[in-house]
Amino acid sequence: MKDRKIILPAPAKVNLFLEITGKRDDGYHNLYTLFLKIALTDMLTFSPRRSGIVFSCSDPALATAENLVCRAAALLQKTSGFSGGARIHLRKRIPCAAGLGGGSSDAAATLLGLNRLWGLGWDASRLLPLARKLGADVPVFIRPEPLLIGRGRGDILRPVPKPWQCWLVLVKPAAAVSTGEIFRSVALPLTKKTNNVKLLLYALAQGDYRRAALYMYNRLETVTLNKYSELAQIKKAFFALGVPAVLMSGSGSVIFGLVPQREEALRVGKQLQGFGDVMVVAANR
Ligand code: C5P
Repeated sequence: MKDRKIILPAPAKVNLFLEITGKRDDGYHNLYTLFLKIALTDMLTFSPRRSGIVFSCSDPALATAENLVCRAAALLQKTSGFSGGARIHLRKRIPCAAGLGGGSSDAAATLLGLNRLWGLGWDASRLLPLARKLGADVPVFIRPEPLLIGRGRGDILRPVPKPWQCWLVLVKPAAAVSTGEIFRSVALPLTKKTNNVKLLLYALAQGDYRRAALYMYNRLETVTLNKYSELAQIKKAFFALGVPAVLMSGSGSVIFGLVPQREEALRVGKQLQGFGDVMVVAANR
């Protein structure tokens, strides 16, 4: 029991599509969004303790009680009434304030990891309300599927079949973006683009990235691009390298390009080094 350890990866996501469908009374916005999980992961290690939660992180600046990992652990402990504790270590690789859902994924992995470590035996339907409490993007990471449509705050989820594979080149500029601030600045659309998702899924299944580019969309992109001009430069640089399917993820600041093959992704990634941290990863299967 003493040496028992659970190690869980916490994947990042990108939004291939994000439209705002309305404003809610709880201060959030209703969304219609398409999440794709990717092979860029944080790594969480859980080990037992007699009592209390002890949290450490490879980035000491993130090892605080406000970290979503600590809040998730405290919430599960309180809700389940479990009397034991845990030691949790987070190896951080997903950049923060990037629109990749890293903090949300860590929170979901904490619920899943402690559920196992503590032998609670809760199924996803019991963990999801806790995930929702922790943040709008947490529930998507409780689900195992790589591709999901999100409605409501982004937390009413429906998985979509993913018979295709692709590679992503991610560029993270220095700018760190506050999600709340971007949502507060966005103008509510009069005409909504939710129809595009079907066409986008069809284009991706065909491997037609030029067509996919026509339907990839993020309502928050103009707001963030107007605030941080370097993001527009990154989009331009992708286009100049012959990558048409380029979008900002979530509220930013990561800009990503979709390409069919690893070799092309590596070539494009190399060319974009000067624009920020560049990561080349596969989509999850
Ligand atoms: O849920 P989370 O803490 O990640 O959201 C951060 C902020 O982003 C919220 O406080 C809200 O202002 C905004 N948001 C929103 N609508 C969503 C998701 C987030 O307005 N669907």
